[in-house]
Amino acid sequence: MNDPIQLIDVKAHQARIGDEIRNNIAAVVDHGKWIMGPEVAQFETAMEEFIGVEGVTALGCANGTDALVMAMQALGLPHGSAVICPSFTFVATAEAVATLGGVPVFADVESHGFNICPDSVRQAIKVAQTEGLDIVGICAVDLFGAPAQYGELETIAQEHGLWLLSDAAQGFGGESKGVRVGGHAQMSTTSFFPAKPLGCYGDGGAVFVKDPEHAATLRSLRVHGKGSEKYDNVRIGQNSRLDTLQAAILLPKLKIFAEELDARDRVAARYGEGLAGAVQTPTIVDGDRSAWAQYTIVTENREGIKAALDENQIGNAIYYPKPAHQQTGYAQWHQSDIDLSRTEWLTSRVLSLPMHPYLTDAQIDRVCEVVHGAA
Ligand SMILES: Cc1ncc(COP(=O)(O)O)c(C=O)c1O
Repeated sequence: MNDPIQLIDVKAHQARIGDEIRNNIAAVVDHGKWIMGPEVAQFETAMEEFIGVEGVTALGCANGTDALVMAMQALGLPHGSAVICPSFTFVATAEAVATLGGVPVFADVESHGFNICPDSVRQAIKVAQTEGLDIVGICAVDLFGAPAQYGELETIAQEHGLWLLSDAAQGFGGESKGVRVGGHAQMSTTSFFPAKPLGCYGDGGAVFVKDPEHAATLRSLRVHGKGSEKYDNVRIGQNSRLDTLQAAILLPKLKIFAEELDARDRVAARYGEGLAGAVQTPTIVDGDRSAWAQYTIVTENREGIKAALDENQIGNAIYYPKPAHQQTGYAQWHQSDIDLSRTEWLTSRVLSLPMHPYLTDAQIDRVCEVVHGAA
Protein backbone atom coordinates (compact mmCIF):
# COMPACT_ATOMS: atom_id res chain seq x y z
CA MET A 1 0.00 0.00 0.00
CA ASN A 2 1.33 3.46 -0.90
CA ASP A 3 1.78 6.15 1.76
CA PRO A 4 -1.22 8.41 2.30
CA ILE A 5 -1.17 11.77 0.50
CA GLN A 6 -2.51 14.67 2.52
CA LEU A 7 -4.87 17.23 1.04
CA ILE A 8 -2.68 20.00 2.50
CA ASP A 9 0.54 19.30 4.39
CA VAL A 10 0.67 22.25 6.78
CA LYS A 11 3.98 21.15 8.32
CA ALA A 12 6.11 20.30 5.27
CA HIS A 13 7.84 23.73 5.27
CA GLN A 14 9.37 22.89 8.67
CA ALA A 15 12.06 20.80 6.96
CA ARG A 16 13.30 24.10 5.44
CA ILE A 17 12.60 26.78 8.05
CA GLY A 18 11.55 24.90 11.20
CA ASP A 19 14.63 26.04 13.14
CA GLU A 20 14.12 29.68 12.20
CA ILE A 21 10.47 29.48 13.27
CA ARG A 22 11.39 27.86 16.60
CA ASN A 23 14.06 30.55 17.21
CA ASN A 24 11.54 33.29 16.44
CA ILE A 25 9.01 31.74 18.83
CA ALA A 26 11.70 31.53 21.55
CA ALA A 27 12.58 35.19 20.98
CA VAL A 28 8.93 36.21 21.52
CA VAL A 29 8.69 34.04 24.63
CA ASP A 30 11.76 35.86 25.95
CA HIS A 31 10.94 39.46 25.05
CA GLY A 32 7.42 39.25 26.47
CA LYS A 33 5.79 41.76 24.09
CA TRP A 34 3.07 39.29 23.23
CA ILE A 35 0.47 41.83 22.16
CA MET A 36 1.48 44.06 19.22
CA GLY A 37 5.15 43.22 19.70
CA PRO A 38 7.79 44.35 17.18
CA GLU A 39 7.27 41.31 14.92
CA VAL A 40 3.75 42.53 14.01
CA ALA A 41 5.01 45.78 12.46
CA GLN A 42 7.91 43.91 10.83
CA PHE A 43 5.51 41.47 9.25
CA GLU A 44 3.18 44.25 8.09
CA THR A 45 6.11 45.99 6.38
CA ALA A 46 7.21 42.70 4.80
CA MET A 47 3.69 42.14 3.41
CA GLU A 48 3.64 45.65 1.93
CA GLU A 49 6.98 44.93 0.24
CA PHE A 50 5.68 41.61 -1.03
CA ILE A 51 2.58 43.22 -2.60
CA GLY A 52 4.82 45.94 -4.02
CA VAL A 53 2.08 48.44 -4.80
CA GLU A 54 2.86 52.02 -3.78
CA GLY A 55 0.53 53.31 -1.06
CA VAL A 56 -0.84 49.97 0.16
CA THR A 57 -0.82 49.63 3.96
CA ALA A 58 -0.97 46.15 5.49
CA LEU A 59 -2.61 45.77 8.88
CA GLY A 60 -2.56 42.47 10.75
CA CYS A 61 -5.62 41.27 12.63
CA ALA A 62 -6.93 38.19 14.42
CA ASN A 63 -8.39 36.26 11.45
CA GLY A 64 -9.78 36.61 7.95
CA THR A 65 -13.38 36.95 9.14
CA ASP A 66 -12.58 39.90 11.43
CA ALA A 67 -10.60 41.38 8.55
CA LEU A 68 -13.76 41.32 6.40
CA VAL A 69 -15.98 42.75 9.14
CA MET A 70 -13.57 45.59 9.90
CA ALA A 71 -12.95 46.35 6.21
CA MET A 72 -16.71 46.59 5.55
CA GLN A 73 -17.14 48.75 8.65
CA ALA A 74 -14.39 51.10 7.44
CA LEU A 75 -15.77 51.23 3.89
CA GLY A 76 -19.26 51.90 5.24
CA LEU A 77 -22.07 49.43 5.72
CA PRO A 78 -25.04 51.08 7.43
CA HIS A 79 -27.56 48.75 9.08
CA GLY A 80 -29.94 47.30 6.46
CA SER A 81 -27.78 48.20 3.45
CA ALA A 82 -26.80 45.61 0.87
CA VAL A 83 -23.55 44.10 -0.39
CA ILE A 84 -23.30 42.00 -3.57
CA CYS A 85 -21.19 38.89 -2.96
CA PRO A 86 -20.83 35.44 -4.51
CA SER A 87 -22.91 32.58 -3.20
CA PHE A 88 -20.12 30.16 -4.12
CA THR A 89 -17.71 31.00 -1.30
CA PHE A 90 -16.78 30.10 2.24
CA VAL A 91 -19.62 31.49 4.32
CA ALA A 92 -17.43 34.10 6.09
CA THR A 93 -17.89 36.48 3.13
CA ALA A 94 -21.65 36.74 3.64
CA GLU A 95 -21.31 36.31 7.40
CA ALA A 96 -19.33 39.55 7.63
CA VAL A 97 -22.15 41.45 5.88
CA ALA A 98 -24.78 39.90 8.15
CA THR A 99 -22.70 40.50 11.29
CA LEU A 100 -22.84 44.23 10.58
CA GLY A 101 -26.63 44.10 10.08
CA GLY A 102 -26.33 44.23 6.31
CA VAL A 103 -28.07 42.25 3.57
CA PRO A 104 -25.93 39.91 1.45
CA VAL A 105 -27.21 39.80 -2.14
CA PHE A 106 -25.90 36.67 -3.80
CA ALA A 107 -24.54 36.67 -7.35
CA ASP A 108 -23.53 33.78 -9.59
CA VAL A 109 -20.08 32.68 -10.78
CA GLU A 110 -18.48 32.99 -14.23
CA SER A 111 -19.11 30.33 -16.85
CA HIS A 112 -15.38 29.48 -16.87
CA GLY A 113 -13.97 29.63 -13.37
CA PHE A 114 -15.22 29.85 -9.84
CA ASN A 115 -15.34 33.60 -9.21
CA ILE A 116 -18.17 36.12 -9.17
CA CYS A 117 -19.49 36.93 -12.64
CA PRO A 118 -19.61 40.66 -13.55
CA ASP A 119 -22.86 40.16 -15.56
CA SER A 120 -24.45 38.49 -12.59
CA VAL A 121 -23.33 41.39 -10.38
CA ARG A 122 -25.17 43.74 -12.76
CA GLN A 123 -28.27 41.55 -12.52
CA ALA A 124 -27.99 41.44 -8.72
CA ILE A 125 -27.73 45.24 -8.56
CA LYS A 126 -30.93 45.58 -10.65
CA VAL A 127 -32.83 43.09 -8.52
CA ALA A 128 -31.64 44.68 -5.28
CA GLN A 129 -32.66 48.12 -6.55
CA THR A 130 -36.11 46.80 -7.50
CA GLU A 131 -36.40 45.47 -3.95
CA GLY A 132 -35.63 48.98 -2.69
CA LEU A 133 -32.36 47.99 -1.08
CA ASP A 134 -29.62 50.53 -0.49
CA ILE A 135 -26.61 48.85 -2.11
CA VAL A 136 -23.28 50.06 -0.76
CA GLY A 137 -20.65 47.64 -2.03
CA ILE A 138 -19.41 44.57 -3.85
CA CYS A 139 -17.28 41.93 -2.13
CA ALA A 140 -15.44 39.68 -4.62
CA VAL A 141 -13.70 36.47 -3.56
CA ASP A 142 -10.55 34.92 -5.08
CA LEU A 143 -11.97 31.43 -4.83
CA PHE A 144 -9.41 28.62 -4.62
CA GLY A 145 -6.66 31.22 -5.16
CA ALA A 146 -7.52 32.65 -8.60
CA PRO A 147 -7.98 36.43 -8.61
CA ALA A 148 -11.49 37.73 -9.35
CA GLN A 149 -11.97 40.00 -12.39
CA TYR A 150 -11.14 43.21 -10.57
CA GLY A 151 -10.93 45.42 -13.68
CA GLU A 152 -14.54 44.82 -14.69
CA LEU A 153 -15.80 44.79 -11.13
CA GLU A 154 -14.09 48.14 -10.51
CA THR A 155 -15.94 49.61 -13.51
CA ILE A 156 -19.30 48.36 -12.21
CA ALA A 157 -18.52 49.67 -8.72
CA GLN A 158 -17.66 53.11 -10.10
CA GLU A 159 -20.76 53.22 -12.35
CA HIS A 160 -22.98 52.60 -9.34
CA GLY A 161 -21.01 54.51 -6.69
CA LEU A 162 -20.23 51.35 -4.72
CA TRP A 163 -17.12 50.28 -2.87
CA LEU A 164 -15.24 47.19 -4.01
CA LEU A 165 -13.67 44.87 -1.46
CA SER A 166 -11.51 41.87 -2.29
CA ASP A 167 -11.89 38.84 -0.01
CA ALA A 168 -8.46 37.40 -0.76
CA ALA A 169 -8.46 34.88 2.10
CA GLN A 170 -7.58 32.26 -0.50
CA GLY A 171 -6.00 34.56 -3.06
CA PHE A 172 -3.06 36.19 -1.28
CA GLY A 173 0.00 35.37 -3.39
CA GLY A 174 -1.95 35.52 -6.64
CA GLU A 175 -1.59 38.14 -9.32
CA SER A 176 -3.81 39.83 -11.90
CA LYS A 177 -2.73 42.13 -14.75
CA GLY A 178 0.74 42.36 -13.25
CA VAL A 179 -0.55 43.45 -9.83
CA ARG A 180 -0.31 41.19 -6.81
CA VAL A 181 -3.45 40.43 -4.85
CA GLY A 182 -3.70 42.98 -2.06
CA GLY A 183 -3.14 45.76 -4.59
CA HIS A 184 -6.57 45.45 -6.24
CA ALA A 185 -9.85 47.07 -5.19
CA GLN A 186 -10.06 49.74 -2.51
CA MET A 187 -9.35 47.24 0.21
CA SER A 188 -8.46 43.56 0.39
CA THR A 189 -8.51 41.10 3.23
CA THR A 190 -6.75 37.82 3.79
CA SER A 191 -6.53 34.91 6.22
CA PHE A 192 -3.52 33.14 7.66
CA PHE A 193 -5.56 30.10 8.76
CA PRO A 194 -3.02 27.21 8.66
CA ALA A 195 -4.39 25.67 5.46
CA LYS A 196 -4.17 28.93 3.49
CA PRO A 197 -1.28 29.45 1.01
CA LEU A 198 0.41 31.64 3.64
CA GLY A 199 -0.73 30.00 6.86
CA CYS A 200 0.30 30.61 10.47
CA TYR A 201 0.12 28.27 13.48
CA GLY A 202 -3.35 29.30 14.61
CA ASP A 203 -5.62 32.13 13.50
CA GLY A 204 -4.45 35.28 11.80
CA GLY A 205 -5.52 37.74 9.12
CA ALA A 206 -4.80 41.07 7.50
CA VAL A 207 -6.40 44.00 5.72
CA PHE A 208 -4.63 45.74 2.82
CA VAL A 209 -5.78 49.30 2.38
CA LYS A 210 -5.02 52.16 -0.01
CA ASP A 211 -6.69 55.19 1.57
CA PRO A 212 -4.72 56.55 4.59
CA GLU A 213 -7.98 57.57 6.29
CA HIS A 214 -9.31 54.02 5.97
CA ALA A 215 -6.01 52.76 7.38
CA ALA A 216 -6.40 55.03 10.42
CA THR A 217 -9.98 53.77 10.92
CA LEU A 218 -8.81 50.16 10.74
CA ARG A 219 -6.02 50.78 13.27
CA SER A 220 -8.73 52.09 15.58
CA LEU A 221 -11.24 49.31 14.84
CA ARG A 222 -8.82 46.50 15.68
CA VAL A 223 -8.22 47.96 19.17
CA HIS A 224 -11.76 48.57 20.47
CA GLY A 225 -12.30 51.68 18.37
CA LYS A 226 -9.51 53.57 20.10
CA GLY A 227 -8.95 57.27 19.52
CA SER A 228 -5.86 59.20 20.52
CA GLU A 229 -5.02 56.54 23.08
CA LYS A 230 -6.22 53.16 24.34
CA TYR A 231 -8.84 54.43 26.80
CA ASP A 232 -10.28 56.99 24.40
CA ASN A 233 -12.89 55.06 22.40
CA VAL A 234 -14.21 56.98 19.44
CA ARG A 235 -16.14 54.20 17.66
CA ILE A 236 -17.37 50.66 18.23
CA GLY A 237 -14.50 48.39 17.36
CA GLN A 238 -13.36 44.98 18.42
CA ASN A 239 -10.37 43.14 19.83
CA SER A 240 -8.72 41.87 16.67
CA ARG A 241 -4.94 42.07 16.68
CA LEU A 242 -2.52 39.69 15.01
CA ASP A 243 -0.69 37.78 17.76
CA THR A 244 3.01 38.62 18.03
CA LEU A 245 3.74 34.89 18.04
CA GLN A 246 1.87 34.40 14.77
CA ALA A 247 3.71 37.33 13.18
CA ALA A 248 7.02 35.79 14.31
CA ILE A 249 6.00 32.52 12.62
CA LEU A 250 4.79 34.27 9.47
CA LEU A 251 7.98 36.30 8.94
CA PRO A 252 10.16 33.36 7.80
CA LYS A 253 7.19 31.82 5.99
CA LEU A 254 6.74 34.99 3.94
CA LYS A 255 10.46 34.88 3.00
CA ILE A 256 9.95 31.57 1.16
CA PHE A 257 6.42 32.32 -0.02
CA ALA A 258 7.40 33.36 -3.57
CA GLU A 259 9.27 30.08 -4.03
CA GLU A 260 6.34 28.16 -2.62
CA LEU A 261 4.03 29.88 -5.10
CA ASP A 262 6.31 28.75 -7.94
CA ALA A 263 6.10 25.23 -6.53
CA ARG A 264 2.29 25.45 -6.43
CA ASP A 265 2.36 26.49 -10.11
CA ARG A 266 4.49 23.42 -10.84
CA VAL A 267 1.97 21.15 -9.07
CA ALA A 268 -0.98 22.74 -10.91
CA ALA A 269 0.75 22.43 -14.30
CA ARG A 270 1.49 18.74 -13.72
CA TYR A 271 -2.10 18.09 -12.64
CA GLY A 272 -3.28 19.97 -15.74
CA GLU A 273 -1.36 17.62 -18.00
CA GLY A 274 -1.99 14.48 -15.97
CA LEU A 275 -5.74 14.95 -15.64
CA ALA A 276 -6.46 16.06 -19.20
CA GLY A 277 -9.33 14.14 -20.71
CA ALA A 278 -10.51 12.71 -17.38
CA VAL A 279 -12.08 15.72 -15.64
CA GLN A 280 -12.49 19.47 -16.09
CA THR A 281 -9.36 21.14 -14.71
CA PRO A 282 -9.24 24.75 -13.49
CA THR A 283 -8.52 27.51 -15.99
CA ILE A 284 -6.80 30.73 -15.01
CA VAL A 285 -7.43 33.94 -16.96
CA ASP A 286 -4.54 34.74 -19.35
CA GLY A 287 -1.90 36.81 -17.61
CA ASP A 288 -3.33 36.09 -14.13
CA ARG A 289 -1.73 33.88 -11.54
CA SER A 290 -3.47 31.76 -8.93
CA ALA A 291 -2.14 31.23 -5.40
CA TRP A 292 -3.55 27.69 -5.77
CA ALA A 293 -5.13 27.56 -2.33
CA GLN A 294 -6.99 24.56 -3.76
CA TYR A 295 -6.74 22.52 -6.93
CA THR A 296 -10.39 21.94 -7.75
CA ILE A 297 -11.67 19.75 -10.54
CA VAL A 298 -15.21 19.57 -11.92
CA THR A 299 -16.63 16.14 -12.70
CA GLU A 300 -19.93 14.36 -13.30
CA ASN A 301 -18.58 11.38 -11.38
CA ARG A 302 -17.64 13.04 -8.11
CA GLU A 303 -18.87 10.17 -5.95
CA GLY A 304 -16.81 7.58 -7.85
CA ILE A 305 -13.62 9.64 -7.92
CA LYS A 306 -14.00 10.58 -4.27
CA ALA A 307 -14.46 6.94 -3.28
CA ALA A 308 -11.35 5.90 -5.25
CA LEU A 309 -9.28 8.68 -3.64
CA ASP A 310 -10.53 7.74 -0.17
CA GLU A 311 -9.75 4.09 -0.80
CA ASN A 312 -6.19 5.04 -1.81
CA GLN A 313 -5.79 7.33 1.22
CA ILE A 314 -5.51 10.41 -0.95
CA GLY A 315 -6.83 13.55 0.74
CA ASN A 316 -9.72 15.30 -0.99
CA ALA A 317 -12.52 17.67 -0.05
CA ILE A 318 -15.69 19.21 -1.37
CA TYR A 319 -15.42 22.98 -1.23
CA TYR A 320 -18.31 23.77 -0.92
CA PRO A 321 -21.13 21.24 -0.89
CA LYS A 322 -23.82 23.88 -0.31
CA PRO A 323 -23.80 27.44 -1.67
CA ALA A 324 -24.38 30.31 0.77
CA HIS A 325 -27.90 31.04 -0.56
CA GLN A 326 -28.98 27.50 0.40
CA GLN A 327 -27.49 27.59 3.91
CA THR A 328 -30.10 27.58 6.68
CA GLY A 329 -28.74 30.78 8.18
CA TYR A 330 -28.58 32.61 4.85
CA ALA A 331 -31.48 31.36 2.72
CA GLN A 332 -33.54 34.32 4.02
CA TRP A 333 -31.49 36.56 1.68
CA HIS A 334 -31.84 34.41 -1.43
CA GLN A 335 -33.33 36.51 -4.24
CA SER A 336 -34.96 34.04 -6.60
CA ASP A 337 -34.84 36.59 -9.45
CA ILE A 338 -31.05 36.29 -9.52
CA ASP A 339 -29.92 33.30 -11.55
CA LEU A 340 -27.56 31.18 -9.43
CA SER A 341 -27.69 28.08 -11.60
CA ARG A 342 -23.94 27.91 -12.30
CA THR A 343 -23.21 28.03 -8.58
CA GLU A 344 -25.73 25.24 -7.95
CA TRP A 345 -24.32 23.21 -10.85
CA LEU A 346 -20.77 23.51 -9.50
CA THR A 347 -21.54 22.66 -5.90
CA SER A 348 -22.65 19.19 -6.95
CA ARG A 349 -19.59 18.60 -9.16
CA VAL A 350 -16.48 20.17 -7.57
CA LEU A 351 -13.80 18.16 -5.84
CA SER A 352 -10.50 19.46 -4.47
CA LEU A 353 -7.34 17.36 -4.80
CA PRO A 354 -4.13 17.47 -2.73
CA MET A 355 -2.39 20.82 -3.20
CA HIS A 356 0.66 22.18 -1.41
CA PRO A 357 4.15 23.23 -2.53
CA TYR A 358 5.89 20.07 -1.32
CA LEU A 359 3.96 17.47 -3.33
CA THR A 360 6.38 15.32 -5.31
CA ASP A 361 5.93 14.50 -9.00
CA ALA A 362 5.39 10.87 -8.00
CA GLN A 363 2.58 11.86 -5.62
CA ILE A 364 0.91 14.07 -8.25
CA ASP A 365 1.16 11.26 -10.80
CA ARG A 366 -0.42 8.82 -8.35
CA VAL A 367 -3.35 11.18 -7.74
CA CYS A 368 -3.81 11.53 -11.53
CA GLU A 369 -3.69 7.77 -11.99
CA VAL A 370 -6.37 7.18 -9.37
CA VAL A 371 -8.59 9.92 -10.85
CA HIS A 372 -8.18 8.47 -14.35
CA GLY A 373 -9.02 5.01 -13.04
CA ALA A 374 -12.30 6.21 -11.57
CA ALA A 375 -13.33 8.91 -14.06
C1 LIG B 1 -13.11 33.02 1.13
C2 LIG B 1 -12.85 33.11 2.59
N1 LIG B 1 -13.21 34.23 3.26
C3 LIG B 1 -12.98 34.37 4.57
C4 LIG B 1 -12.37 33.38 5.31
C5 LIG B 1 -12.23 33.56 6.78
O1 LIG B 1 -10.92 33.46 7.27
P1 LIG B 1 -10.65 32.98 8.76
O2 LIG B 1 -10.89 31.52 8.83
O3 LIG B 1 -9.22 33.35 8.99
O4 LIG B 1 -11.56 33.76 9.64
C6 LIG B 1 -11.95 32.22 4.67
C7 LIG B 1 -11.25 31.16 5.40
O5 LIG B 1 -11.57 30.07 5.59
C8 LIG B 1 -12.21 32.07 3.28
O6 LIG B 1 -11.85 30.96 2.61
